[in-house]
Amino acid sequence: MCGIVGYIGNKEALPILIDGLKRLEYRGYDSAGFSVLNGNGIMTEKAVGKVVELENKVNGKNIKGSVGIAHTRWATHGKPSERNAHPHCDCEKNIFLVHNGIIENYKELKADLEKLGHKFSSETDTEVLAHLIEEYAKQVPWEEAVWRTLAHVQGTYGIATIKADDPERIIVARNGSPLVLGILEDGFIIASDIAPIVRHTDRVIYLEDGEMAEITKEKYEVINFKRKKVAKEISKIDWTLEEAEKKGYDHFMMKEIMEQPEAVENSIRGRLVVGEGIAKLGGLRDVAERTRHLKRIVIVSCGTSYYAGLVGKYMFEEYAGIRTDVEYASEFRYRKPILDEETAVLAISQSGETADTLAAIREAKNKGALTLGIVNVVGSTIARETDAGVYNHAGPEIGVASTKAFTSQLSILALFTLFLGRQRDMSYVMGKRIAEELEKIPELIKTILKQSGEIKKIAKKYSSFSNLFFLGRKYNFPIAMEGALKLKEISYAHAEGYPFGEMKHGPIALIDKNFPVVAIATKDSVYEKTMSGIQEVKARSGKVIALATKGDREIQKMVDDAVFVPKTLEMLTPLLSVVPLQLFAYYFAVNKSLDVDKPRNLAKSVTVE
Ligand code: AGP
Repeated sequence: MCGIVGYIGNKEALPILIDGLKRLEYRGYDSAGFSVLNGNGIMTEKAVGKVVELENKVNGKNIKGSVGIAHTRWATHGKPSERNAHPHCDCEKNIFLVHNGIIENYKELKADLEKLGHKFSSETDTEVLAHLIEEYAKQVPWEEAVWRTLAHVQGTYGIATIKADDPERIIVARNGSPLVLGILEDGFIIASDIAPIVRHTDRVIYLEDGEMAEITKEKYEVINFKRKKVAKEISKIDWTLEEAEKKGYDHFMMKEIMEQPEAVENSIRGRLVVGEGIAKLGGLRDVAERTRHLKRIVIVSCGTSYYAGLVGKYMFEEYAGIRTDVEYASEFRYRKPILDEETAVLAISQSGETADTLAAIREAKNKGALTLGIVNVVGSTIARETDAGVYNHAGPEIGVASTKAFTSQLSILALFTLFLGRQRDMSYVMGKRIAEELEKIPELIKTILKQSGEIKKIAKKYSSFSNLFFLGRKYNFPIAMEGALKLKEISYAHAEGYPFGEMKHGPIALIDKNFPVVAIATKDSVYEKTMSGIQEVKARSGKVIALATKGDREIQKMVDDAVFVPKTLEMLTPLLSVVPLQLFAYYFAVNKSLDVDKPRNLAKSVTVE
């Protein structure tokens, strides 16, 4: 939810820290700050708002130093303010610390420390850590003081800390919030994910929960919670810098919408054996015998990934014959889910760090279920904690509103359907048909993207409305939900997704000329019912924007506006029908001059529960 960067090496730290924060801003942008060891102690600067505000504060100042930490915040405890901005420090302003996560027992710890005379300057949970390390450091060395502090913490953390009187080291530790260590030619960079690292090196180490690292300019040492040194494998980042940058688009979101043909190609590359009508998923190889005998799949995810799961349910039930339930991860873990060894729990997560989804997977493992993942970020926590899984290979998704990751998730779910179906009674003929149609999807998406000018006009026409319905049936019901989420999260309009068949059970009372409806009405097994629904809306003076199948002349006469997508298998339609809705939301929000990549109140990766 927040972004952390640290640097120690032979270069000036501040430029690296500021650049790193900018690449992490999608994780939170309520406030930002840094601390740099400048030879005369520690220089700290903070600013409310985006990183550019912090940058403006220090422009022209000569802040030197080759060791530093920095932070961009998504507020959890204490409103966005300079006082609550990280880094936080101890009473003596000797220890400075940045933190991503939530210290759940901070109130008790703070009360104990205040009794010992500690004075706090912020409302945050994080500040407690700096004072507790200070208290312990009165009796033991700094690294031991950090260990002892973390042993008292309930909650999640990814931390980086520096100490004025120990200027040659950064100490970092993680439990529940990601930390990645980049290995440079002449130093090290630590960050919440690889975005700040990729321009400096492709060699990284992923810290695991319970691990701490002491980092100097020359070396690093990782110690686990048993206090044993850990030899960590060095991984290679498979994203290039330009992939993580905007490439001339106004927003990351538009870049990522336009990258969808390539994202789907990359997701299915090497995984479709069209001639045999099968999917080859190397990530499932070791569990293939278990997946063959599964009786049930429970999909756990959040937000857009949850809607991908809803599409997966229709696919798995109809084409793989497996009973499938889809659960909000945040609900699943607090229920008493009935799981067994014939159940697989499948986590869908772009970031691989969503706390609710991670917690659901951990609960599933406790109950003996096979845990699988569909994850985009290589080496992320969910990817590493599931028993097996399939990476999206969709490339970095920076825009807070998920787009290419979603279509990539649907592609992988189609591959899963093929894989599981052909382990069961799906015929060669059906398998081949699905594989052939899936292979065509990238080109079909390209034809839709060419209509972005038309969709921009429609979005402009409706951008003055503040209430809209998104309606769909069967495979397009989850797409209606996703289309509504896209619109609400970047334009702040009240957009509601609903099963079309549900309208007559109450919601249709809302319909009038001020409450337009986006009706997903592609030619499929429920087309006639959907057309009846559109008639019902029109009969109540509702405006209708239809998302229809290319060549459908009938619908054009019935509705106010229409966008057309090519014909494909019903189960693959969602990969096409979502694209116009992404563009509609994008242009709707841009027309309102909103910050599409960093919408208010949101962050890209929700690593708090
Ligand atoms: C999607 O547009 C949202 N930003 C959000 O709902 C997101 O899908 C959700 O937080 C899940 O994230 P994940 O896929 O990284 O787990």
